[in-house]
Amino acid sequence: MQVENRSKRETRIFRVSEENFDTILDEAAEIIRKGGTVAFPTETVYGLGADGLNPDAVLKIFEAKERPPGNPLSLLVHSREDIRKVAKNIPEKAVRLMDAFWPGPLTIVLEKNDIVPEITSGNLPSIGLRMPDHRIPLELVKRAGTPLAAPSANLSGKPSPSLAIHVLADLAGRIDAVIDGGGTAIGLESTVIDMTVEPPVVLRLGAVGIDDLEKVIGKVSRPMGTETKAGESLPEKQAGQKYSHYTPDTMVVLVEGEKEEKVSEKIGTLFEDYLSKGQKVGLLLSDETAGFFTAEGLSAHKCFLLGSRKEPEEAAKRLFEGLRALDAEGLDVILADGSFSLSGLGTALLSRLREASSVRYIV
Ligand code: TXA
Ligand code: MG
Repeated sequence: MQVENRSKRETRIFRVSEENFDTILDEAAEIIRKGGTVAFPTETVYGLGADGLNPDAVLKIFEAKERPPGNPLSLLVHSREDIRKVAKNIPEKAVRLMDAFWPGPLTIVLEKNDIVPEITSGNLPSIGLRMPDHRIPLELVKRAGTPLAAPSANLSGKPSPSLAIHVLADLAGRIDAVIDGGGTAIGLESTVIDMTVEPPVVLRLGAVGIDDLEKVIGKVSRPMGTETKAGESLPEKQAGQKYSHYTPDTMVVLVEGEKEEKVSEKIGTLFEDYLSKGQKVGLLLSDETAGFFTAEGLSAHKCFLLGSRKEPEEAAKRLFEGLRALDAEGLDVILADGSFSLSGLGTALLSRLREASSVRYIV
């Protein structure tokens, strides 16, 4: 086990391997039981965990992340028994979702029990629950003996972390420990569905798509930012969605449209426009759009490639890393490519790009 001292308040870094897994998980569980905070990988993004039933511990999450009070946290659970402890009046459709998608990237909002403190649920009568498909958080919940309040392990308003170094960039010195388990498999946060209303409402899109959900429970209401056609207007935000996510400090200009070539051309034109105004421009591109630039053009400027537009899964994995990398370059503007295929994780990817952007062109 490797332990490093990162700052005066000391965030311990646990690098997990087969040999030290048991020792590290026991230590991390001990920190949680004592009311501390530990960040860890899940299959979606890194989470910042604390005992979800201990208000003092949960307060530490809000402080470390500078999360606005009232923004509800979700709980990670390890077993079905955990669920009955924290939630009540569980609809039969919710059980079907658990059967179909757990462990996995789906957060299910249910009516909460009184045992869940107000601070955890953001004073809402409901609570989001998720059983992650990852050995580290599952073991941590089990060994700590309590559901973990676990939002993404970033400063509020920053992109979610897909690597332990992202967690440290935001939270070193603010949390007790981080378990470094490598890159996260999906790279975008879980799908969130509110099962306290009928029809259920999807509050956030992730790896579980609307179609996947509807195959299991029938009609669901669609969230903001999930229109499949470029340029459709965005509906009002729902409860639990009033806080913005994924906003880099640098202005992000997103270009999307149904014709991929047009998107690439528009990015090229905008690039020239901004350069001619003396601005420092970063590019967040698919390989195909990058093909519209000369090699010298690309190497002379800050460019992060997300991979082929036909492989949104790969792009999703790299998105937050790209946003963070470009945001650290002191640029005036980031031009983002919205030409990715809307199959698989593509719709969720586009919804994250939309949230990150302050200007959106539809071509
Ligand atoms: O994949 C994930 O869900 C990651 C990993 C770490 O598990 N966690 C995560 O947590 O993204 P967080 O707090 O960043 O996002 C949880 C989302 C938020 O948008 C929150 O507003 C919503 O779920 N949420 C939680 N409880 C809710 C509730 N009772 N009603 C409505 N929305 C809720
Ligand atoms: Mg978050």
